[in-house]
Amino acid sequence: DRGNYRHFMQKEIIEQPEVVAHTLAYYLDLANGAPKQIDSAIDFASISRLSISACGTAYYAGLIGKYWFERYARLPVDIDIASEFRYREMPLDKGDAALFISQSGETADTLASLRYCKGEGLTIGAVVNVRESTIAREADTIFPILAGPEIGVASTKAFTCQLASLASLTVHAAKARATLSDEAIAEMVHDLMELPRLMTEALKVEQEIVGLSRDLAHASDVLYLGRDTAFPLAMEGALKLKEISYIHAEGYAAGELKHGPIALIDEDLPVIVIAPFDAVYEKTVSNMQEVAARGGKIILITDVRGAAASSVDTLKTIVMPDVPNFIAPIIYALPIQLLAYHTAVFMGTDVDQPRNLAKSVTVE
Ligand code: M6R
Repeated sequence: DRGNYRHFMQKEIIEQPEVVAHTLAYYLDLANGAPKQIDSAIDFASISRLSISACGTAYYAGLIGKYWFERYARLPVDIDIASEFRYREMPLDKGDAALFISQSGETADTLASLRYCKGEGLTIGAVVNVRESTIAREADTIFPILAGPEIGVASTKAFTCQLASLASLTVHAAKARATLSDEAIAEMVHDLMELPRLMTEALKVEQEIVGLSRDLAHASDVLYLGRDTAFPLAMEGALKLKEISYIHAEGYAAGELKHGPIALIDEDLPVIVIAPFDAVYEKTVSNMQEVAARGGKIILITDVRGAAASSVDTLKTIVMPDVPNFIAPIIYALPIQLLAYHTAVFMGTDVDQPRNLAKSVTVE
C-alpha cells in the first residue's frame, strides 16, 4: 500500500529514517555505545580478507563498505560485480569470509558467486532484505537489512539499510580486531544513532530538488563526481537517474576527471558534485573549478561548512546538515535519490516500473 504517496519509490525514500533506525537497533547496543551480540558465523578477528560481491545498487553499497572496513577495521576487502566475480577465478583462502549483498536474495550472478566461494571453503554471510531467499538459505549467516518490502524497481531504502548494516558490521569488525578504542567505537555508534534525525533533516531539501529537476530533465547526459565514499555514491546517483528518467548518466571518481571525462564538459552538461566537507573536500573543489572553467553547469551537494568554503559558481548548491564523515554516504544518498525521482516524475516516466527492468534479476 503506497498510502498517500504518488509512487512506491517516493514512499520508500521518505520512510528511510524510520527503517534505518530498525536496522541499527538489530546490530548495535545503542544505550551502551557498543556492538550488540548478533548471530554471526564470520569471525572478523581471525579473517585476513573479506570478499564482497553484488550487483547494481547493492554493489555500490558494498564499495562504500570497503572504504569503511578497510579504514576503521583495517580489514582488506576485495569487491567485485558478481557477474565478473563468478568467472574471474580469484584465488581465495579457506580461512576467509565472503559477503553477498542482495535486496531480493535471488540475483542469479550473486548466487553463483556465493556458490563459488562456498566451494572454496569460505564462510558465507548474506546481507539480504528477504530472509527466506535462496542467497539467505545458502549462507552460513544472515545479516538482515530489515528495510521492509521494497516495491519500486529503483532501489532506495534497501540501499541505505544495506549501508546501515555494513556500517554496523564495520563497528563489529573494529571491535573484534581491536583496531579502535572503546571510546572511538562508542563515538561511531553515537554517529549512527544520529542517522534517523539527520536523515529527516536531509529530506527537507525535497522542494528545492523539485525545482532543480526541471533543469535536469532537459539534459541528455549528466555527470556525477565524488571522492572517497562519495565516489560509489556518484555511481549510484548516475544509476538511479538512468534507470527511471532514461537520461544517460555516469558516475566518476572526481580525480579521474582529467583522465577523460573532462572532454565532455560544455554548457549543456550538468555536473553533480557530491562533496561533504571532509579530508578530500578541497581536492573535489579543485576538480569542480576545472568544470566551472569550461562552462559546465555545476550542482554542488555539500554541507553547511562546504557551502561556506566554496567560491565556485554553481547553478545550485544543495546544503546537507553538517554530519560526521563516517555516516555521510547514508545522508548524501537522499538528495541523490530525490533528484532522480523528481526528474523522472517531471518527465512522466513509469517511476515504479521503468522500461526493460525487473525488480529481481534471476537469470544471468
Ligand atoms: O536484489 P538485488 O539487490 O540483488 O538486486 C541487485 C540489482 O539488480 C539492483 O540493485 C538494481 O541495480 C536496482 N534496480 C537498482 O536500483
